Amino acid sequence: MKKKKIAIVSDHAGFYLKGRIQDYLKKEKYEVRDFGSYSFESVDYPDYAHKMAESISTGEYDMGISICGTGNGINMTANKHRGVRSALCWNGEISRLARAHNDANVCALPGRFISESEAYLIVKTFLETGFEGGRHKRRIDKIPIKAD
Ligand code: RB5
Repeated sequence: MKKKKIAIVSDHAGFYLKGRIQDYLKKEKYEVRDFGSYSFESVDYPDYAHKMAESISTGEYDMGISICGTGNGINMTANKHRGVRSALCWNGEISRLARAHNDANVCALPGRFISESEAYLIVKTFLETGFEGGRHKRRIDKIPIKAD
């Protein structure tokens, strides 16, 4: 099966972990594009998260990984985009359910609250879990305010 194309993004608080996750994804042969930020310098996460989310909304990339301090800001930003279902994932089981039940296409990580090994587990689970469909499809179809 063809590997998914992954869009990755962070602010300064997620910059270190983003680098580690990117290395992991490349080792696993995913195609990855880094939407920034590109240093530990303090930045505003929406300036980067919007670009990543747009690439998911248009279908250019299949899935997104985003990291800020709490995961919340970057998660909220991504969810403003049509067709994006971004889920805050802080452990493997939340990540699995975000895919299986919510068909999430962006995984938002709280970089200041998880370890590197927890981050790998969350990302691996997210990318390898399928959507269960059925009653969950009916539910996610009711999420958008206007038709997607
Ligand atoms: C940056 O200090 C921090 O506010 C940001 O990374 C994030 O946690 C916001 O939701």
